[in-house]
Amino acid sequence: MTHTRTVVRGGLVITAADETHADLLIEDGRIAAVAATGSTVAEGWSAERTIDATGKYVIPGGVDAHTHMDFPFGGTFSSDDFESGTRAAAWGGTTTIVDFAVQTKGHALREGLDRWHAKADSKCAIDYAFHMILSDVNQGTLKEMDMLVEEGITSFKLFMAYPGVFYSDDGQILRAMQRTAANGGLVMMHAENGIAIDVLVEQALAEGRTDPRYHGEVRKALLEAEATHRAIQLARVAGSPLYVVHVSAEEAVAELASARDKGLPVFGETCPQYLFLSTDNLAEPDFGGAKYVCSTPLRPREHQAALWRGLRTNDLQVVSTDHCPFCFVGQKELGRGDFSKIPNGMPGVEHRMDLLHQAVVDGHISRRRWIEIACATPARMFGLYPKKGNLQPGSDADVVIYDPQAEQTLSVETHHMNVDYSAYEGKQLTGQVETVLSRGETVIDRRTYAGRAGHGQYTPRGLCQLLD
Ligand code: URP
Ligand code: ZN
Ligand code: ZN
Repeated sequence: MTHTRTVVRGGLVITAADETHADLLIEDGRIAAVAATGSTVAEGWSAERTIDATGKYVIPGGVDAHTHMDFPFGGTFSSDDFESGTRAAAWGGTTTIVDFAVQTKGHALREGLDRWHAKADSKCAIDYAFHMILSDVNQGTLKEMDMLVEEGITSFKLFMAYPGVFYSDDGQILRAMQRTAANGGLVMMHAENGIAIDVLVEQALAEGRTDPRYHGEVRKALLEAEATHRAIQLARVAGSPLYVVHVSAEEAVAELASARDKGLPVFGETCPQYLFLSTDNLAEPDFGGAKYVCSTPLRPREHQAALWRGLRTNDLQVVSTDHCPFCFVGQKELGRGDFSKIPNGMPGVEHRMDLLHQAVVDGHISRRRWIEIACATPARMFGLYPKKGNLQPGSDADVVIYDPQAEQTLSVETHHMNVDYSAYEGKQLTGQVETVLSRGETVIDRRTYAGRAGHGQYTPRGLCQLLD
């Protein structure tokens, strides 16, 4: 139902900058005003609808800057399309996703972008934007990058992994970085040495090491660190900023920290799976480890402390999901007897806000840092702030009423993602999303779905807002 004026009363409003007991006035899909609870100003507001947030947190909707809906990989497609995936995101308090449109080798960026619009437009329950995956850096695509930046696709993912599929060599990477140095775009790097990894894959399979856990063993932390180092040096040569996606290895965090200590415009993202899961999961019996095959891979749990530290010290700035689900039956099973054929990716878009709230409960991060890494900084990084990621007057009224006391157990039985397993089956969490507004419209109403496919709007982006 559309309400032109809504008041959210009595909650603890948490943003990256502040925590205050305040009321929000929402008008025509935007935050119109914020005023202290009980103040004359707030008491004077009248509205068609009042949401009582007493005892709850009032936070900006989550911004998940790394999803793959309906994504082609290993001869199949990720099992959430934009409809099911954005619905699940809303259930988990995420109100914006930035998904990766894919350039197919030999084809124009524009063709890939059109295909992504066809997949997403009129399907989404929440707002969405696109990055572009470059699979074929050449004179034509380099020129197209300029046009895309003008249109609001301001970031480009390149792969140092997956030779023969998405891989770019160092020369192509340097050229793409030089282009972004000139046009203001941001290169997002999948930093793993794919050429070396493929040698190790071949050797493992030849020796009969075919189980899912070998996926983690051949994709060595050192090869993530080496690629991260190389990407940083290439960005320095090009004079461009760099964002490294899905960082999982302690050694890679060290590369980012050392670059940032030099004052370089280098940024890093990690994901809940690296913070909460480990190679123990990859070793689960009866091919169960396949559920956890993603790249970069899960690491031994000792790496987690470095990731949490990086998030606290701002050597890592963003937590995204890299949501890329494949069903166990019929999809992950493609790799029985050959781990290299297991489609890479894990489900997670629904659980990021809750898992990071659990990190607050567990003392890894503060409440404001929770909002910073999950809402405000991803919005700034990808040119969406303060429309997204904040609750200041003028921001979109993407608002989550969050119950910090609720207890929940994650399970395939209760999640809303279109995938036949949960990577967090049985995990108990404190805290749960209660109500979600997207541009003032109710998407989740006290844990009932009230959204609709097609409500979500395509949102062109500006340039990275973290560069001086
Ligand atoms: O395993 C992953 N991460 N799958 C999605 C593609 C990518 O590299 O982000
Ligand atoms: Zn990647
Ligand atoms: Zn990804």
